[in-house]
Amino acid sequence: MRVAVLLLLGVVEARGPCFFNRTQEHCVCYNLSQKSIGSVIQCLAASVVEFWGGELERYTAQPITDLEDAPTVLGSLIIKKIIFGDLLVPEVLLARVLRFFSYTHVEELVFKSCVFQGRGNWAGMAGQGLPILSLQFHNVTSAPLLGREEEFSSLGTWLETLQELAVTESRVTSLPCGIGRLFKALHSLDLAGNSLGDESLLPTFCQGAFPQLQVLSLQHNELTSYPGICQSLRLLPETLRIFNLSAVGLDEVLRPLPPHLEVLDLSRNHLRAVDISLSFLRKLFLSQNLLEAAPSLGNCPRLDTLYLENNSIAELPWEEVKLLGVLREVALDGNPYSCSCSGAGGLQALAATGHLGQGWPQDYRCHLPPGYQGWQVKDVPVSGLRCHSVAVIVPITVVLVLLGLAGA
Ligand SMILES: *[C@@H]1O[C@H](CO)[C@@H](O)[C@H](O)[C@H]1NC(C)=O
Ligand SMILES: *[C@@H]1O[C@H](CO)[C@@H](O)[C@H](O)[C@H]1NC(C)=O
Ligand SMILES: *[C@@H]1O[C@H](CO)[C@@H](O)[C@H](O)[C@H]1NC(C)=O
Ligand SMILES: *[C@@H]1O[C@H](CO)[C@@H](O)[C@H](O)[C@H]1NC(C)=O
Repeated sequence: MRVAVLLLLGVVEARGPCFFNRTQEHCVCYNLSQKSIGSVIQCLAASVVEFWGGELERYTAQPITDLEDAPTVLGSLIIKKIIFGDLLVPEVLLARVLRFFSYTHVEELVFKSCVFQGRGNWAGMAGQGLPILSLQFHNVTSAPLLGREEEFSSLGTWLETLQELAVTESRVTSLPCGIGRLFKALHSLDLAGNSLGDESLLPTFCQGAFPQLQVLSLQHNELTSYPGICQSLRLLPETLRIFNLSAVGLDEVLRPLPPHLEVLDLSRNHLRAVDISLSFLRKLFLSQNLLEAAPSLGNCPRLDTLYLENNSIAELPWEEVKLLGVLREVALDGNPYSCSCSGAGGLQALAATGHLGQGWPQDYRCHLPPGYQGWQVKDVPVSGLRCHSVAVIVPITVVLVLLGLAGA
């Protein structure tokens, strides 16, 4: 029985050793090649299998035979995730073998550092569903996607059930509108580390594209203007719950933001001020910006987590301390604190609530006044003469005056 033949793309066996870790049910094979079926067989008991390197292109012309028992054999495997890395993948081959995944229980398919070569004929996949729910491409190259919407529509039956898609670090400049419309159930889309510009988002998120999307990651692209991004994303329905705009180069935040957001990551941008009003927001990430004050939170009644590390916040007035004090988790380390009595006192009071994360006390340091520069905020005295001079000096003066009077 040509188990390995079935396991892989239907035609490839592995040479070179496979390493199987039984505890982790994880198998890694290097250098896919024709011979040495024995090494691959041990991977059949794994739930995660990785294939790195080798030559798939040699199998492009080979007919696919001996597959009568494919449903039984493939159906008995427990493999849930397959990773292909460092491979040249002829699209013709992929198009021919993809349907065999319908007999398996593979839910996650990952391609890392692969080059997809040529164009395949996907017509054989028409009407075919697959168990694969998550599809990931990282650092891959392929023929341009533009103009191939028709071709890929044969994959529609499968793609409309796909839940997660990641195409990262792959120099993507745009996803054609028609492709986004195929992903009817997609709830997570990760496009980090590509070359998307403000104007290329508009066709990608056209009317009807990704109608169920809840999680979108666009960090490390070539986006510049927040209004531009919002304009392009305005058609994304109200389903978006998690929005990751970390390190996208924003210098301002404008409305409208998707109204039902629960998690918003705006860290590592150039924001100087933030005014956000989102009634469902629970987590807000603003680390590594240029903020000089904590954002006002009155319009985010459900907020429980706020990260403000490495900004330019010098002081937290008492009003802010009170507001921040009701959150479950706050991180404020790495700011240039002014250790005035109220500044240091406010932070110490906040720390006493126990909600300041791991950075307290070591990463909370004074920048001013000069006498306390470099001190940990926790060590700054906030009681006694320095801070309560009025409270201390006035009664003492009164006592002295009274004593003076009595003496006279
Ligand atoms: C299998 O994985 C476990 C957990 O990571 C590790 O402790 C163990 O050393 C691995 N076994 C082999 C044979 O690599
Ligand atoms: C990306 O993939 C190419 C092959 O297409 C490979 O040569 C390169 O080393 C990969 N880069 C990284 C950072 O993995
Ligand atoms: C946003 O993306 C960055 C970079 O990939 C990641 O480190 C961060 O954890 C993400 N934020 C959230 C809230 O998941
Ligand atoms: C804040 O800056 C410090 C020092 O540059 C760095 O080690 C730390 O990772 C940063 N923290 C965050 C949350 O960005």
